[in-house]
Amino acid sequence: MIPGMGEPASAADRLPPGPRGRKLHNIRQRLSRHSEFMDELHAEYGDIVFFEIPARKCAAVFSAELIHEVLVEQEPYFQPYYPKTSYNLIPSPCLATSRFETHTELEKVMSAAFTPERMPAYGKAIIDNALAFRERLASNGNVDFKYEAERYTWGSLLDAVIGVDFKVEPELGKSVLDAMKSDMLLSLLPFGLALKRLPLPHNVRTARQIKALDEQTYRSIERARDPAHDGDNVISHFVRAADEDVVDWSFPDDSEIRDEAYTLMFGAVDAPTGTLTHAIHFLARNPPARERLEQEVDQALDGRSITLADLDRLPYAHAVFKETLRLEPPAYVLIPRETLEDRVVGGYLVPKGTLMNVCMRTMQRRQDYFDDADEFRPARWLEDAEQGGSRCPAHSYLPFSTKPRICQGEDFARLLFVSGLASLVQNLRVEPESDDPPTKTNIGVGIMGKYPVSVSPRTWPSRRTPMEPQP
Ligand code: HEM
Repeated sequence: MIPGMGEPASAADRLPPGPRGRKLHNIRQRLSRHSEFMDELHAEYGDIVFFEIPARKCAAVFSAELIHEVLVEQEPYFQPYYPKTSYNLIPSPCLATSRFETHTELEKVMSAAFTPERMPAYGKAIIDNALAFRERLASNGNVDFKYEAERYTWGSLLDAVIGVDFKVEPELGKSVLDAMKSDMLLSLLPFGLALKRLPLPHNVRTARQIKALDEQTYRSIERARDPAHDGDNVISHFVRAADEDVVDWSFPDDSEIRDEAYTLMFGAVDAPTGTLTHAIHFLARNPPARERLEQEVDQALDGRSITLADLDRLPYAHAVFKETLRLEPPAYVLIPRETLEDRVVGGYLVPKGTLMNVCMRTMQRRQDYFDDADEFRPARWLEDAEQGGSRCPAHSYLPFSTKPRICQGEDFARLLFVSGLASLVQNLRVEPESDDPPTKTNIGVGIMGKYPVSVSPRTWPSRRTPMEPQP
């Protein structure tokens, strides 16, 4: 109970349990060890928790039922919250940041860009990038795996969104995103925006990089209007969706197409990069699982380079993807939801203005939902499939969140992960230099710092005996 609030009249007047006061302590925990802080709140107070940080009320939900309630049943009252910064490289309302009707319209266009029919075109670009990813690792004994995985992801996204023939360098996308992140932090400082306007080398360089990316993007938009062009990229889809009757809505102008393409790419890099990096950690810590993956890849590919047709023959690689995302969902806490009016969740009052934290990682590691919940055991997903579906409770596995704000890039991310990992595993052993897991960022999605690995050739085939059950 908040001191001075008086005795609650009923459950619905009562705030959820949680630490009272200690606002500065809470914000320090939130900024320095977000994931662990959420785990501790759950362990101490239960499935719904209320706490405060300076100038903000916060809540957090940890159970499948309550997460479903916030994301689905009461979704109109819990909308994504983005703090306003004075700097904005992407001024238009975009899918991830929009609410209500704007979100509904944009969601239709975006989901039509990632239908199963459109995936083979992106898949070809992804596979070419996966082979280049392997080449780069093979020619360097010691590398920062995170950097290389990020390059691979950028290459695939730029090819799929802007177009393969534009050959936009992954470094360009990466430097624009890095500059955007640092400028957003800068703009939170009192004189941040003024600093950004000065002709400092950083600002001049950033402006030049944005201009270069803009030029390629607008050229791609222009070319998409040419009926002779095959339209195999996301920008072409954005340009043509209304004319081709895919949706009954079109972007008002080219700058909105550019902005949507940028939010898509900028928002879609860190999660796949982090997932690949965490998988390398988990596989190195679990040799039998790594061996089973190597065997599957050897048998499915039989010494050839991977093609799209091989992806269905790699069920264990898909299970590694699922299990990595269970233990380390990149969006371990979703973008906070702003409570638009007083609501009752799980029998407790969540006051208007509260920022609701939806804690996927804590939920996906619950011992009452998953057997051996803290163990990396990809085979659990194959056992589940054999038994006609997952044995975990409904809504307890949501690394891509759920409708109406489900991730549009799930199939793309799976293709990226399986193609990249299978290509590496086929020829290489990637050994992390440290036993420690990659360090998650405390704000947003992704990995902090480097993740050094050593790379050595793997002799093929590693073992040709029939596969034995492995974890
Ligand atoms: C392992 C990889 C990925 C994971 C785990 C992931 C997870 C998520 C999650 C949890 C959300 C919801 C965020 C929230 O509501 O707070 C989301 C949204 C979104 N993701 Fe992903 N994502 C991944 C990769 C991608 C990729 C590769 C793309 C595009 C190619 C993509 C496109 C999107 C879009 C457009 C949204 C916004 C959906 C909306 O607000 O309606 N994601 N993603």
